[in-house]
Amino acid sequence: MSKSAVLLVLVALTVNVNGECDYPPYYDHTILREEHQAHSPSEFIEGFKVAYYCQSGYVRTAGSASITCINKMWSALTLKCERKSCGFPGEILNGNFHSGGGHLFGDEVYAECNEGYQLVGRGTRRCYADGWDGQVPLCEIVKCPDPPEIEDGEIMNLPSGNVVYSTAILYRCKKGVLIGNKELVCTAQGNYSSKPPQCEEFPLCPNPILENGRKEAGFGPIYNYNDVVSFACNHGYILNGSSWFITCKENGKWFPFIPKCDIVNCPDPPEIEDGEILSHGRVVYNTAVRYKCIHGSLEGSDKLVCRADGTYDKEPPQCVKRTLLNRFKNYVKETVSKVIHWWNRHA
Ligand SMILES: *[C@@H]1O[C@H](CO)[C@@H](O)[C@H](O)[C@H]1NC(C)=O
Ligand SMILES: *[C@@H]1O[C@H](CO)[C@@H](O)[C@H](O)[C@H]1NC(C)=O
Repeated sequence: MSKSAVLLVLVALTVNVNGECDYPPYYDHTILREEHQAHSPSEFIEGFKVAYYCQSGYVRTAGSASITCINKMWSALTLKCERKSCGFPGEILNGNFHSGGGHLFGDEVYAECNEGYQLVGRGTRRCYADGWDGQVPLCEIVKCPDPPEIEDGEIMNLPSGNVVYSTAILYRCKKGVLIGNKELVCTAQGNYSSKPPQCEEFPLCPNPILENGRKEAGFGPIYNYNDVVSFACNHGYILNGSSWFITCKENGKWFPFIPKCDIVNCPDPPEIEDGEILSHGRVVYNTAVRYKCIHGSLEGSDKLVCRADGTYDKEPPQCVKRTLLNRFKNYVKETVSKVIHWWNRHA
């Protein structure tokens, strides 16, 4: 064997050992088929094909799975592997699944119950290569403890089973007056909306009497706690007090005070020239003020009556000097009014 022949064999051996392409490259989410993994690099010769597949949890969505050794280089892998979907995680009665991202491999969903329901079972599911782990949890309606009994009272609608979310329990007193809420509602937190009411006995309130007035509502005759009476004053009287309504309170007393009806006052009667007022003091509803002339004669009415609205029924009279002319004028006025009167009666 010549020297050159030995060299040729050596070169051929080297090529044989190294092949023509390097070991096939690594691509994300893919795995080289096992049969190729086992291959010795010496086989990766011109035209040789190796294939990939998608790793667990990923699915092929596009491209070719194989690459070829061409000109000592592997062709580019076109295979696309994407996270597989686990699909709908299941329906929860009275609840929902929420997810941070989606329903794909590696994602997690969280169960949430509607208001008034609570979770039974694990609240999360994770998407694995073979689907969702665990099971669909349950949302159970919230229960409240048995409603409390009350002294001197009873529950009107005691349910046969558990009291559940949003149920209202109604109380009634057998004795006394109900203080507090008569209705307790079972809340989403599993407790009641308020404390139970109490039945309390209070002294009766006395029959309220309003002089110069009357009751408009709340005629009694027995007045219990929280009973209301409303009043009105008679004609010519006005209310003196803070309210038309009074309420019977805890200690058997009326609140606010029983009002009074005060008689209506008229202002001081106006003075007149050359005349005087015969009555003195306060002028109240339905009383009269009398006038008298010092000289002269009185024109108009000598009597002013105080009305229910606090005004006088007429203008005050005038005192006119007793001259012949005035007497004549008066005579004519009286005669004319007599004639009109007669005429009105006979016409
Ligand atoms: C019911 O329970 C919640 C939470 O434990 C609490 O915040 C609330 O005050 C309770 N309500 C009543 C009326 O006790
Ligand atoms: C109401 O009555 C009180 C006492 O009874 C009296 O002092 C007061 O002046 C009256 N108020 C009015 C507005 O008349």
